[in-house]
Amino acid sequence: MEIQSIAVLTSGGDSQGMNAAVRAVVRSALYYGMKVYGVQRGYQGLINGDFREMDLRSVGDIIQRGGTILQTARCKEFMTEEGQRLAAEQLRRRGIEGLVVIGGDGSYRGAQKLSELGIRTMGLPGTIDNDIPFTDFTIGFDTAVSIVVDAINKLRDTMTSHERSSVVEVMGRHCGDIALHAGLASGAEAILIPEVEFDVKEIAERMSGNFNCGKRHSIIVVAEGVGKGEDVARQINELIDIEPRVTVLGHIQRGGTPTHNDRILASRLGDFAVRKLMEGESGKACGVVQGELIATDIDLVVSSKKPFNMELYELAMRLSQ
Ligand code: ADP
Ligand code: F6P
Repeated sequence: MEIQSIAVLTSGGDSQGMNAAVRAVVRSALYYGMKVYGVQRGYQGLINGDFREMDLRSVGDIIQRGGTILQTARCKEFMTEEGQRLAAEQLRRRGIEGLVVIGGDGSYRGAQKLSELGIRTMGLPGTIDNDIPFTDFTIGFDTAVSIVVDAINKLRDTMTSHERSSVVEVMGRHCGDIALHAGLASGAEAILIPEVEFDVKEIAERMSGNFNCGKRHSIIVVAEGVGKGEDVARQINELIDIEPRVTVLGHIQRGGTPTHNDRILASRLGDFAVRKLMEGESGKACGVVQGELIATDIDLVVSSKKPFNMELYELAMRLSQ
């Protein structure tokens, strides 16, 4: 066996399924006879030397838990060359040859820097945003969408009773996927996302027309990437005689038990990352495309934009009358 010791960390915003991914990395590494270390608090823990050796029991009873047992952080010091050098040195000092980084595109850039310093690195897409190319889904996205759909179901009950309209602001940073998938799955009347231009006047007129034709509620999903739900509601209210209630779902979307899809995705990717490190690969991001596991150069992943699923958007619009 070529590689004897690896480490794993979680970085950036947490997401449901990160624990399942940590578990898969640890258990696969142990299965293949390696030593495996957990690094606390992402790149900050790497710089500080905050490592602990993991065994089978260190990752027991976590597959179903949200958050990350390794904690996560955003670390400014690691953005500097000096920080990156210190981090690589901490790994070398312990004889750790490989590192699995679970996080978003910022964390991937960090992994790429370590790869350039001679540490074998693998990235796993841990973010609710689904904004990483070369993977159909990121770990946490499925759970976040389920949370939004569940919230909209509840909002619908009260909106229907009062014949009201609801604006729901969801996360996703610059990506509209949470809004798009949750909007389609919950029958939203409009989905406002950064990838598609929209006209609030046209939306307001449609809402008004629908209420006049007997519709008893309306749900507008707003991705945070287009702005604040409050602003959209105010604009609608200025145009028509409807005063939408606003719900900002916020960090609720990042918590709770991961869905089975996220657990399976995390388990497959964690194991795959370990096997890729064993094969001598480095500077790669792991993903699943049409069911197949793939490893793509991080350079390419961080310089590409995730393709937008216009077909899904058009479907949502056709059905949202
Ligand atoms: P995410 O991984 O969820 O996108 P961030 O963008 O906050 O979250 O990135 C997480 C961490 O990754 C940052 O705090 C920083 O330590 C590291 N990082 C981000 N971008 C870079 C970069 N260009 N070079 C080196 N490290 C980076
Ligand atoms: O990247 C995950 C995410 O939850 C985004 O959807 C959101 O824009 C951001 O992180 C929020 O960051 P913070 O947790 O620092 O408020």
